[in-house]
Parts: sequence; structure tokens; C-alpha cells
Amino acid sequence: MSLDITNEALDQISSQAAQLVAEYFAHIAERPVMAPNHAGKTKSLVNVELPVEGRPLDQLLDECRTVMDLSRHNGHPRFFGYVASPSTPIGAYADLIASALNANITCWRSGPAGTEIEQVVVRWLGSLIRYDGNAKGLLTSGGSMANTIALLIASRRKSPEASRKGLWNAGPPMTIYASEEVHMSIPKAADILGFGRDQVRIVGCDERRRLRVEDLVHRIQTDQSNGFTPICVVGSAGTVNTGAIDPLSEIANVAREYDLWFHVDGAYGAPGAMDHSKKDLFAGLERADSVSLDPHKWLYVPVDAGCLLFRDAAAAAVFTEDAAYIQTHGLADDATFAYWDYGVELSRRFRALKVWLTLGYYGARRIAEAVSKDISLAAYLGELVSNADDFELLAPVELSICCFRYVPKNTHERDLNHLNEQIMAAVQKGGHAYLSNATINGKFALRACITNFRTTKADIEQTIEVVRDAAKKLGHG
Ligand SMILES: Cc1ncc(COP(=O)(O)O)c(C=O)c1O
Repeated sequence: MSLDITNEALDQISSQAAQLVAEYFAHIAERPVMAPNHAGKTKSLVNVELPVEGRPLDQLLDECRTVMDLSRHNGHPRFFGYVASPSTPIGAYADLIASALNANITCWRSGPAGTEIEQVVVRWLGSLIRYDGNAKGLLTSGGSMANTIALLIASRRKSPEASRKGLWNAGPPMTIYASEEVHMSIPKAADILGFGRDQVRIVGCDERRRLRVEDLVHRIQTDQSNGFTPICVVGSAGTVNTGAIDPLSEIANVAREYDLWFHVDGAYGAPGAMDHSKKDLFAGLERADSVSLDPHKWLYVPVDAGCLLFRDAAAAAVFTEDAAYIQTHGLADDATFAYWDYGVELSRRFRALKVWLTLGYYGARRIAEAVSKDISLAAYLGELVSNADDFELLAPVELSICCFRYVPKNTHERDLNHLNEQIMAAVQKGGHAYLSNATINGKFALRACITNFRTTKADIEQTIEVVRDAAKKLGHG
């Protein structure tokens, strides 16, 4: 039986769904960041029985409204948790177009137009970090997948035979180097890929939370003399906790000297390289062998849109598959291009469309201005907390993350962690702003990550007051 619907029914879905989206975008700032909620509430308010017969559209869209109401609104101007940016309307509609087309971007044959758009988008993203026109890469589900593929490429470069024989037959254990601030996706990738988490050597940080290069060299030399095979160093361009950028040029020198793959996790922070005032911090990024950069983090593209960029496509094609159903017949050159040579996924969404349309609609200049504005708002928050008697800045504001804590007079150091934990929970529940947390030198920090083009200076000032109010309600201040 056909699932096609009449033109009238299609018009009805289109206009009602578009209205829902328009209402959402128009009124997002008036919503609580997080409406009062508890686990199980959504399930108690929507239909949870598998419908045997179809249900009326009005009912379904009403329930959709409930789902929207009970969501956390990452696009609210005072949402500063984790690394989550608002989507733009053009990005949302791009996803609709991609889903309507439902192209499967496994290779050129499967999605010819989508593959070419992805190649274009990847070149654009490469240019944002000053990779030259030869840069290649692929869009991924996110930074975790991009980082995982990067570590796989690094290991195959040292030991191509591991593909057939397995890591256990590929010589001494391989080691990876990263700072103590590295994102959890790196040890997780080491686990998934079979290196083992212990083989990620954790290198200490300086007072700006940046990897200490002397310690890196020391760890590599020690491992070499103990019979390990160092394969890769991971630098961060925007750590998840504080937004620190490792000394990339110096790390690139070490990678070259010890013949290591140099991967930079810029999943969150790499777009910061577009800000002229931060250019020096990113020096050396273009020397990385591979870079993760997530358009769904700081280019305001809807989830999911990660990206792994690499300078040398030949080094990055690590999979050689020979199944009959993937062989190309009657195609040559670029028409034989396949993403399955580079990544884990076979079926892949047409992610490139939303990146292409977002950058096309706004232009790189406006996106870069939004990134710069986020950076200056984080600096403003840093100034406000530094100048206030009842706040303490806990880490330098390098990009768009500010870590601080509330320090009321006459409160003992040992009580501050607990107090700030309680403040964070109260702020999150209160719905007026949303902060997450980080631990910095053992201190519990309220963490604001500003990747939000809707945020204004007034929102930052209001957030300070939201924290003070929460503290007052807890009996402090
Ligand atoms: C620095 C960094 N790397 C990697 C990731 C993982 O990205 P994803 O959640 O898209 O897998 C994050 C997520 O916040 C991150 O901040």
C-alpha cells in the first residue's frame, strides 16, 4: 500500500509544521531555558502506545508541542551549558530538504550531488583553519567520531598491516599523547580502537591549562626507551573545560621530530581561528595532519554535523573494502570516490547541505562576527566576575568559555565546592539561565560556554544576578 498522501494532506503538513517552527524561533527567548520537568513527564503527556492505526495530524503536532515545551532550549539566549549552539532557521530547513531528498552519501554513485557538496563544504571548512585547497575530509556525526577516525588513521600510518592482522600482531603497543584537559572522546577512541585507555599518555598542563611541551617530549622518550611505539599527539584547539588552546606550533615541531601524526581536536574551538584577535593562539593549526571541527558546535549548524579534516588525503584513506556490492562499474576518476574509504559509517546523512546553506545564507563574514561576539561576551563575563567581590574567576578566558565560582564573604574554602554545586543545580532548575560545570585544580567551577548568537551583554549581566539570587535562596549573600 502506498504511503503517499494527497496534495492537500501534504500542504497541511507543510503549513502546520512550518508554523510550529516559526513560532518556536519567534518566541524562544520568552521560554524558560528549561521548563519544570521530571523524568517520565514527557512519557506521561504523549501517546506511548504503538499506534496500530494512524492518528490525526492535529493531535500529533499538539504532542510535538509538548515535546518542544519539555525540551531544554539550547537556543535560548541564556543557555551556556556544555558546547551547544542554537540552530538557525536556514539550518533547520536544510535538514528538511535533506530528509525529503533522503540521499545516502556513501559515495559519488549513491549521492552524486551530495558528495560534491560535501567536498565543497569540507574545502570551505579547511579554509577557515588556513588549510590550503588540497585539504580533504568528511563530515561525521560529531567530534567523537572525528577524533576516533583520526586515531585510526594515525595507527594505520605506522602499521598498515594492523588492518588484516589486528593490533596484537602489529608490533609493540602504540601510544598516544594528549594533555590532562583532553576531551573524553580521545581515551574513549583508544578504548574502541583497541589501543587501551592506558596507552593515552596524559601530559600535564601549565597555568593556562595548555599542554606542557617539555612533559610531552619526556613522555615520548620514556615510552620509546621502554619499547612502546608512539604514534600520535593530540593537541586541543579549545579544550572543553576552559577553552584553552595548546601550543600548536611547538607540538607540531615535536610531532615532526618524533614522526608522530599530529591531530588537533578543534571540535569546539577551531572556528575561533576566524577571530583576528585570536590568530596567534591558533598558530600551527594549519600544520596539523588532521583537525576535528564541528559545524554543530560553533558554526551554529543543527546537530549532527561534525567534520574531520586532513591535509593529505592519501594518508587518510585507511579502509580498502572489496565487497562486490561496492565495486563501481562504468565509472572513472572522481566518480569512483567513496566516503567509506575514510570513515566508519556506510550510510550517511546529507549533512553537508545544512553547512552549505548556513554558510551560503549568512556568508563566512557574518558567521565569523557571531563567533567574535561570543568571544567578547565571554571576556565580558570574565571581567564582571573578576571585578565583583563575591565572584572569583577560576581560569583565563581564552575563547568563549568562562569558568568562575561564587565566593560569599566569610565562607570557608572547604564549603565552596558544595555551595557552587548547589548553585548550579538551582540555576539549571530555575529556568532563567543555564550553566554547566568544570573542575579546575580541584575547585568546582560554574562554566559558561557562549556559542550563542542570541546572547547579549544584558543576558550576561542577568546571568550574574541569577547566580546571586540562587545563592541568596540557599542562604548565602
Ligand atoms: C573539545 C571537544 N572534542 C570533542 C567533543 C565531542 O563532540 P561530539 O559531542 O560532537 O561527539 C566535544 C564535545 O563537546 C568537545 O568539546
